[in-house]
Amino acid sequence: KKDGFDWFMRKEIFEQPRAVGDALLGRHSGDGQLQLDELRLSEHDLRQVDKIVIIGCGTANYAGLVAKYAIEHWTRIPCEVELAHEFRYRDPILTSNTLVVAISQSGETADTLMAVRYARLQKAKVLAICNTNGSTIPRESDAVIYTHAGPEIGVASTKGFLTQLVACYVLGLYLAQVRATKFGDEIAAVVHELEKMPAHVQQVLDGAEAVYALARKHAGTRSVLFLGRHAGFPVALEGALKLKELAYIHAEGFAAGELKHGPIALIEEGLPVFCVMPPQGRDQLHDKMVSAIQEIRARGAHTLVLVEEGDDDVDDYADEIIRLPVVPTLLQPILATVPLQLFACELATVMGHDVDQPRNLAKSVTVE
Ligand code: F6R
Repeated sequence: KKDGFDWFMRKEIFEQPRAVGDALLGRHSGDGQLQLDELRLSEHDLRQVDKIVIIGCGTANYAGLVAKYAIEHWTRIPCEVELAHEFRYRDPILTSNTLVVAISQSGETADTLMAVRYARLQKAKVLAICNTNGSTIPRESDAVIYTHAGPEIGVASTKGFLTQLVACYVLGLYLAQVRATKFGDEIAAVVHELEKMPAHVQQVLDGAEAVYALARKHAGTRSVLFLGRHAGFPVALEGALKLKELAYIHAEGFAAGELKHGPIALIEEGLPVFCVMPPQGRDQLHDKMVSAIQEIRARGAHTLVLVEEGDDDVDDYADEIIRLPVVPTLLQPILATVPLQLFACELATVMGHDVDQPRNLAKSVTVE
């Protein structure tokens, strides 16, 4: 069943080119028009939306954080992202024009389900982004976009996450199309980039051996930090979560801009720090990230830099470099996440842990 892989997780990581392709399949026409016939919300309903609230837990929450960057940029609809278990305990402002997007791989996470029920009682419209057909969260929602990743058995979410990203991009682009906040050719251009993602993900996977070697090299470390900016910030959080849950070591993700507000005090000689470089030409973020990398390197960090091909601005400050295909900034999380999954999977394997069933964790958390 594991197709020759040692772990379901590793198998599922390598299934991601197929999964990412399937998540997009049938959702656009050849000329780049989005079509979401499956969505049970009318175009009229979607035009009324004046606020989006994305809820989820763990990895699903991080997919929501990426989605916020994309959806606000494309639609200009204010978008909040909230942990599902915090949401209903703070009296959130919801109206019939609020679109609540509930992201859940399993569709059974109790915290997310309770938040969905709460939102519907407040008359908000609820759209589920879910991987499991017929599960409770989509059944109790007004609408659903299925992610079509196929069954995810490893407890740590991998293809679940990447396909959640694709579903969020599809939703954002569809809203932009319905509300005409972007021109058709701009939307088509992004769709075209999304179509190329399976091949790009495959290219990143082809470099797996080099990432495994890094994992083996750092197997004894007590802590790993992850830095990102913009859409790379949630990627840093996701990389840290994978390492915590699989390798049981301290790992933390930060927005690189936060460094000087505290976390830089953590930097010490030899500390491995993953840095997700924003693509070149992305306003000033690229150069700011270069400075952040210089600063932590000067304080002894061992920098592992994820950077797009052709960008040699960090070559002098990176101890290790992982190259990524060149894609638009908003789509980069699909690629940048993959080496971090591989790293966590391999590090945990080397440490002798059960990668598919990490201690204290369950695949779906059906109690609050
Ligand atoms: C992390 C992980 C968890 C889940 C979270 C939500 O690898 O798997 O953080 O993402 O428990 O689960 P779903 O998406 O099933 O609601």
